[in-house]
Amino acid sequence: MRRACFVFLFLLVSAPLVAQPRQAAVAMPDAFSAEVAAQVLQRGGNAVDAAVAAQFVLAVTLPEAGNIGGGGFMLVHKDGEQEFLDYREVAPAAAHRDMYLDEDGEVVPDLSVIGTLASGVPGTVQGMWQVHRRHGSMPWAALVQPAVTLAEEGFVVPEPLAREAREFADYVKVHHPAVNFADYFGGLAAGKLFRQPELAATLARIRDRGADGFYRGETARLIADFMRDNGGLITEQDLDAYRAKWRRPVSADWRGYRIVSAAPPSSGGIAIIQWLKMYDRVRNGVLEGRAPAHNSAEYVHLLAEVGKRVFADRAEYLGDPDFHPVPVARLLDGEYLARRSRELNLAAISPTPAVVPGLPESEETTHFSIVDRWGNAVSNTTTINLSFGSGVVVEGAGFLLNDEMDDFSAKPGVPNAFGALGGEANEVQPGKRMLSSMSPTILLDNGAVKMVTGSPGGTTIITSVYQSILNVVEFDMDAQRSVDTPRFHHQLWPKDQIRHQPGFDAGVRKELRAMGYQLEQDGFGDLQVIVDRDGELEAASQSSGRGVSRVLSLPEPVRAAL
Ligand code: GLY
Repeated sequence: MRRACFVFLFLLVSAPLVAQPRQAAVAMPDAFSAEVAAQVLQRGGNAVDAAVAAQFVLAVTLPEAGNIGGGGFMLVHKDGEQEFLDYREVAPAAAHRDMYLDEDGEVVPDLSVIGTLASGVPGTVQGMWQVHRRHGSMPWAALVQPAVTLAEEGFVVPEPLAREAREFADYVKVHHPAVNFADYFGGLAAGKLFRQPELAATLARIRDRGADGFYRGETARLIADFMRDNGGLITEQDLDAYRAKWRRPVSADWRGYRIVSAAPPSSGGIAIIQWLKMYDRVRNGVLEGRAPAHNSAEYVHLLAEVGKRVFADRAEYLGDPDFHPVPVARLLDGEYLARRSRELNLAAISPTPAVVPGLPESEETTHFSIVDRWGNAVSNTTTINLSFGSGVVVEGAGFLLNDEMDDFSAKPGVPNAFGALGGEANEVQPGKRMLSSMSPTILLDNGAVKMVTGSPGGTTIITSVYQSILNVVEFDMDAQRSVDTPRFHHQLWPKDQIRHQPGFDAGVRKELRAMGYQLEQDGFGDLQVIVDRDGELEAASQSSGRGVSRVLSLPEPVRAAL
């Protein structure tokens, strides 16, 4: 019955309203979300409709990161305006600054990473509800239904998911036997159908009651009871109080483009703009307009020197702006960035402890990019933090909870799972959002979409995103090359460490070692980008992942969808 209704609604909105063919594109982290997002666009939905449908599908088919038990950030470019939706998790009301410390004041290993205490109050369902109310054009129920169907009828498990789930199940069985991950995901087998009846029932409540299907009633009661019985903190009051927030995105002009990106509580937008602008200061100053060769030792070192300053600022100044003022304008001020770029040492590595915050006086996540036939765009990054989050499934509700509390600073000077440091600005407080690196970003060229980009990867998200932008703008790469060409990451600490993807030139690695860098190979990120090259859309998913991207040629409807 539900499916019949869904098909009917789609037929209704796909009435033949033919004019000029127009391009649309999706770059998605898996084949199921790509198929559903493309169908929504083909049937007359806009980019936000496609994003909402995809987000719920990913909660079924990408359990390591897709979610309804986590949060994220969505950047929307619609009808010429840009808006940033913050649906980040918040600390429960009973959380407190020292909740991850033992009686000696030391951080208890894994407490913020695995188990019920690791979870913040989820924001995803509120986020999707808010963005749909503001910008959706198709009925909510029709957009949630594909996820309900996939959970109810099952999907064929891809091999990488089966392998990752098995490895994680083996890990928790040995190290955290109280965690119930394996009861739900231990039996995943490659090529076999996987059904999730509890999750299907939860998604059906969301389909029928909107956000109230999650934050109130049966689902809220299941979460709160499970938390109470298993030492967690999230209550029905926490769920009822949760609100996604619309914020002004951070933006700046760069090379004739308008960069629009994630605002605090993400560190990503500020970091990307700082990185690109300091790079340009050096390129146009000391280097007299010469671009260093792509991925040469000179290029890697220059960007690592910039990264040291970016991450020193991140650790000191960034946190939830509702709790701690974040000096956004000062961190992006031209004079400030000019002064910071003069500190860079182009000949040798700046001593790490000497790089301090510059103003006077927190791996697994997923991203998708969508452009619709009207030129609207969604850049959406969503997460339950590490792969499979806290490893805890809400019994009776069938979904994994996040371990986002680890993105807070458990104690000044003690790195989180991503090696990120933080202080007072990012300490745990009830109702506060934990600092993020998620960086959904859009580049505009005279108001039209030039590029939509984003990636998972904890602190390496920032790197993946700013390097994808440089790959396209500075090095004129096509979309596929821009996501597949090897990237490198430096974040001040660990001292002088450069993480690089496989395929990094052996001669360059030798040069960097000779300069004193410690090199570590790491396949971080899963970029999903859409690029407009000379009026033609290109879409690309990083080849190392299981993403699927498509460019669609669609008729331009005479009127917007329902
Ligand atoms: N959980 C990763 C991030 O938000 O940066």
